[in-house]
Amino acid sequence: MAKSLEVVARPHELRERVAQWRRKGERIAFVPTMGNLHAGHGSLVSRATELADHVIVSIFVNPLQFGPNEDFAAYPRTPADDRQLLSLLDAEVLFAPEVDDIYPRGQETTARVHVPGLEDILCGAFRPGHFMGVATVVTKLLNLVQPDVALFGEKDFQQLMIIRRAAIDLCMPVEIVGVQTTREPDGLAMSSRNRYLKPEQRAVAPQIFAALQRTRLALESGSSDYAALEKAGTESLQKAGFRPDYFAVRDANTLQLPEVGSKDLVVVTAARIGRARLIDNVRAQRA
Ligand code: PAF
Repeated sequence: MAKSLEVVARPHELRERVAQWRRKGERIAFVPTMGNLHAGHGSLVSRATELADHVIVSIFVNPLQFGPNEDFAAYPRTPADDRQLLSLLDAEVLFAPEVDDIYPRGQETTARVHVPGLEDILCGAFRPGHFMGVATVVTKLLNLVQPDVALFGEKDFQQLMIIRRAAIDLCMPVEIVGVQTTREPDGLAMSSRNRYLKPEQRAVAPQIFAALQRTRLALESGSSDYAALEKAGTESLQKAGFRPDYFAVRDANTLQLPEVGSKDLVVVTAARIGRARLIDNVRAQRA
């Protein structure tokens, strides 16, 4: 039977809850989310239960990571459904703070976390300030929860790398674990933003994963003409009706352009269709 879910809104209540477990020497896993939970979040929570005695999930739509013309106001908020899903899983605490709890002096003047070299490339080039907002809120949440382990989806590959780097560089005593992307049967990566897709857009959305897979196969078969592969990927998405922000082959350990002989690669893309901006990636290993 699933453990009962306690909903906590205030940071001091959360700290008290966590302190009780810490005093007993119990392990805590943390899954930060922005809500509108789906099976992808479910797999993060399931993995978390394997790694710790207690699982805390947060739901906080973080205004600091949205640009002025982005979808902060429209971002899907489904608190009742989220609680229902979490109560079927083994999460014990749902931390659902208000904006004032996280930014008591306002978000404009809060201390910020930057990860130079990683925050301004790829998605960061199209969403200025986004990764500063992510790194800042995740740092705050990690400081509040003080988990032994925190879990993030690999779909947000750049985000995961930025959080890992921030945790290492700022000496945070937490293990950052990436969890494999959960996909719909046709390959579309699960995402809260899939809700924005109209039926005809949803029908072509699996073309993103298909283009990534074609590129992975070409790389694993020995192709090193990254520019040609990026051009082919971009054009195939355009043909399917997307407006790609980028389609890029990168070194999976640095997110920089691959060196000659790089073996661990990642193909990353972000593409817009209608109101949705979808991101996805696949890893490619070369002998
Ligand atoms: O991936 C997300 O849902 C968010 O970027 C995160 C990590 C919860 C920070 O707000």
